[in-house]
Amino acid sequence: MWQRWTPLKAASAQYDLAGFRTGGSRMRALERAEVGEVRGRSLLHLQCHVGLDTLSWARLGAQVTGVDFCAEGVATARSLAADVAPSAVFVEADVLDLPSRLDGTFDIVYTSHGVLGWLPDLYRWAEVAAHFTAPGGFVYVFESHPAAWMLDNKADRPELRLRYSYFGEEEPLAFEYRSPTAVPEAELPGWEYAWGHSLGEVVSALAAAGLRVEFLHEWPFVAWRLVPFMTQGQDGWWRLPEGLPSMPLSFSLRASKPSD
Ligand SMILES: C[S@@+](CC[C@H](N)C(=O)[O-])C[C@H]1O[C@@H](n2cnc3c(N)ncnc32)[C@H](O)[C@@H]1O
Repeated sequence: MWQRWTPLKAASAQYDLAGFRTGGSRMRALERAEVGEVRGRSLLHLQCHVGLDTLSWARLGAQVTGVDFCAEGVATARSLAADVAPSAVFVEADVLDLPSRLDGTFDIVYTSHGVLGWLPDLYRWAEVAAHFTAPGGFVYVFESHPAAWMLDNKADRPELRLRYSYFGEEEPLAFEYRSPTAVPEAELPGWEYAWGHSLGEVVSALAAAGLRVEFLHEWPFVAWRLVPFMTQGQDGWWRLPEGLPSMPLSFSLRASKPSD
């Protein structure tokens, strides 16, 4: 699916790769504030897609490495890096196998926006993230909230109806799609498969890997339109319409590795 989607997304107005080549960081202010100063620090971006966020961190001064298993995404990221941050490294690998493909440790291990649901084994993911975190460094995750994944994403009226289970199963859920969200006009039907992971599972997996949770923040907005009646604010985040009860739509988490 990612191999088919990525060239279309990369060519879309929403991605605006040509504009990105000319300058600017696309990193959201909230994440910049929560991650803190990156200048001079090494940063590993897991599931980096076409590298826009990776290279945004590079433009803020980080020494970046991005990882994705989609060859199309990695090729696009490398081509962007040639113009934006030639020292950026991009690795084509399954994140769950990464220790056999990449050496070293990083001050910051970063992952965000549409990543965890593609992974069948979150405990293995947390082990990998901890493996690459230098002592005194941290893992930072910004992701849509598992409670928001319960919502009926076919609902045409602005009401909160539950459609999916909170707790994930060993077998993934299968969803039929017509087109990637960034390119709604594309006719590219197929099936996607995703695993549910509860918030408890995310925290427990990181703790089991030896990391210490510094904060877990829940937010009433998310980076993309999870249900059709959401609206996008000036700040780019998508929210439920006014009048509905508020609920968590995304979360951010920082977990550090002790320095000794
Ligand atoms: C929704 S995209 C992430 C988008 C990213 N947050 C951004 O805004 O650029 C999900 C990415 O995860 C990658 N991916 C999914 N499963 C993976 C795995 N097991 N190992 C490495 N990458 C994976 C896909 O190839 C895709 O690029």
